Amino acid sequence: MKSDNKKPEIKTNNQKPALIENENREYAECVMLCPAGYPFEFGLMEDDFEIKNHELFEEYAREQWLGLVVRENSHLFDQKIMPDYGFKIVSAKPNNSIITEKTKIKLITDEINAKKDNTLIKSNYHLKDIIGQENAKNKVKVITKYLEDPESFGPWAPKNILFYGLPGTGKTMLVKALANELEVPLYLIKATSLIGDHVGDGASKIHDLFKKAGENSPSIIFIDEIDAIALHRSFQSLRGDVSEIVNSLLTEMDGISEHESVITIGATNNPTSLDYAVRSRFEEEIEFKLPDDEERLAILENNLKTMPMEYDLDLNRIVKLTKGLSGRDIKEKILKTALHNAIANDSDIITMKNIDYAIKISKIKNSDVKGMFE
Ligand SMILES: Nc1ncnc2c1ncn2[C@@H]1O[C@H](COP(=O)(O)OP(=O)(O)OP(=O)(O)O)[C@@H](O)[C@H]1O
Ligand SMILES: [Mg+2]
Repeated sequence: MKSDNKKPEIKTNNQKPALIENENREYAECVMLCPAGYPFEFGLMEDDFEIKNHELFEEYAREQWLGLVVRENSHLFDQKIMPDYGFKIVSAKPNNSIITEKTKIKLITDEINAKKDNTLIKSNYHLKDIIGQENAKNKVKVITKYLEDPESFGPWAPKNILFYGLPGTGKTMLVKALANELEVPLYLIKATSLIGDHVGDGASKIHDLFKKAGENSPSIIFIDEIDAIALHRSFQSLRGDVSEIVNSLLTEMDGISEHESVITIGATNNPTSLDYAVRSRFEEEIEFKLPDDEERLAILENNLKTMPMEYDLDLNRIVKLTKGLSGRDIKEKILKTALHNAIANDSDIITMKNIDYAIKISKIKNSDVKGMFE
């Protein structure tokens, strides 16, 4: 993309941006749009269109919207080929900034459909909320750098990464935070949802997912709970459609070309249960570990910030009592149970008595679960 250092020459076109008020605004680095349609219905208008060349669209868009303020969830209107056709601003970095000649403008053509099937995600998580998991965070740093400038990595680009580890250690949370941090679309699919009623459903969903991600690249595909579909060969015979899904996944992962800038992240509790061919496609396997003492303390403190009741707790003792528990366990099994126990006892403060109760209950639950498999 062209990038000279000229200050933007603010044009108004036939829109009416409040230019004087804009003087102190920052310049937009990146704006993500999705088609929103016309503001009114008129028989002859066709709502559907296809963008053949995203780079050309970017130049076309930048030229006509140069100098306008972009605010997330507001709209920009086309003035040229499809007058008054609206584009929703899905994200603007930074928000409330001005489009310049250097602003990247990305159009997600299928955001509406993606939203319907919940594959395109935005979340409230941020990387700073994730305690520990430094290896995974370092990889996220590499991914972020790569997506800022894909060309510079050439054949050394990150492609397929597998996150694995015990339940509740932050795998899904980290990817959701990544989606928030990046200005590229992230498509999430839960592998369990690929096992459909009809043979072939899952394979075609995988195909569509990779197609969408390719069309909107740079982008990220996140296949959560990937073990559900990419079962080890010895289990595949138990589920007829699974081997078809595995094959489709392999075909699509191999089909991504070097130039496409699509990163696939898989998450699983148990990498050894994965199909060997699928597993070998992941260049790196990153383990998510249970939190150590310091990390459990930080998880406790973070969660207590949003606690809707006062508390009088000995955090160091809770750290000791929760050894071996995951971030999810600490939040859901200990803090939530303690809060509910306090409410049930008409208390207006959470004390160690409520925590002890929660620990006792969680131990009973855990031993029940263990017993089921013995
Ligand atoms: N490292 C962490 N830092 C902060 N909070 C955490 C961490 N790990 C887990 N949590 C808490 O636990 C919740 C569940 O985590 P998450 O869904 O990411 O686990 P997961 O590793 O994907 O588990 P599963 O393997 O069962 O899918 C998070 O929403 C968060 O509240
Ligand atoms: Mg998960």
